[in-house]
Amino acid sequence: MRDLKGKTAIITGASRGIGKAIASTAARLGCNIVIAARSEGPLKETAEELKNKYRVEVLAVPCDVTKLEDLENLAHKAKEKFGRIDILINNAGVSSQYPFEKQPFEDFESLVHTNYLGYVRLIRLVINDMIKNKSGAIINMVSGSTLCDPLPRNFLVYSSLKVGLRAFSKGLFWEMRDHGIKITSILPGVTDTDLTGKLQEITADTSRLMTTEAIENAVAFALTVPANVCPLEIAVINQQTPWTAPVIPFKQAHPDK
Ligand SMILES: NC(=O)c1ccc[n+]([C@@H]2O[C@H](COP(=O)([O-])OP(=O)(O)OC[C@H]3O[C@@H](n4cnc5c(N)ncnc54)[C@H](OP(=O)(O)O)[C@@H]3O)[C@@H](O)[C@H]2O)c1
Repeated sequence: MRDLKGKTAIITGASRGIGKAIASTAARLGCNIVIAARSEGPLKETAEELKNKYRVEVLAVPCDVTKLEDLENLAHKAKEKFGRIDILINNAGVSSQYPFEKQPFEDFESLVHTNYLGYVRLIRLVINDMIKNKSGAIINMVSGSTLCDPLPRNFLVYSSLKVGLRAFSKGLFWEMRDHGIKITSILPGVTDTDLTGKLQEITADTSRLMTTEAIENAVAFALTVPANVCPLEIAVINQQTPWTAPVIPFKQAHPDK
């Protein structure tokens, strides 16, 4: 297993849910951690928890990934404290479940800025140093919903942006591989977090929900494969996935009917 001791990893959306779980994984593997999220309180609590449990250095940077200046500050603070950024895990995300014709306009903005633009911008801010270092690992939290065609009902904007992110990540791998930089997309299934807590119907049968464990394993795998290997995509989906038509009942009336 590759030694990650002393490497620096930024994890966005790390105050709870999947992000907190994978920040713990990176800390367990010996990385120094830079965690980011908007709410300072839970972020600081997570930082203390990780510091005490794993005896690694943890920097908590309040950051709204929809704001370029916050992302610039995050990259700057990470470099200032640790000298370099070896690993970036883009994970911060929001959800919005609506029949398209009812979806609020402001949700489009927040989905694009958080779940897509926030990822691309932060990568752009760290990639030149990774190119200079001739090494780096970037993990993007995509979604297992991108495996569905057509995309799951009521998640069109969320899922289509994740499709875009998945395509971007794959393309970026080809552009970056000669620089020694690995790019991995993780496609999680429906996982028991605050994000899914707000989704109706899908989470009604909680026995179908995954815990974060499989995603933590996927992150550990991606970060510890041999140097000349890149896990391009890792899908860890529910054994009985709740996305398929029989499980998500189609209750909306068709506009033509
Ligand atoms: N849960 C699932 O079933 C599932 C499935 C597939 C993919 N995913 C993806 O996995 C990622 C994590 O989801 P999760 O389920 O762990 O969600 P979650 O429990 O709601 O946690 C989201 C995290 O992102 C942070 N965040 C949200 N908006 C932010 C912003 N503008 N700037 C900075 N941080 C922000 C939140 O902290 P603050 O609110 O304090 O900012 C929190 O730490 C998302 O990208 C999601 O799309 C989740």
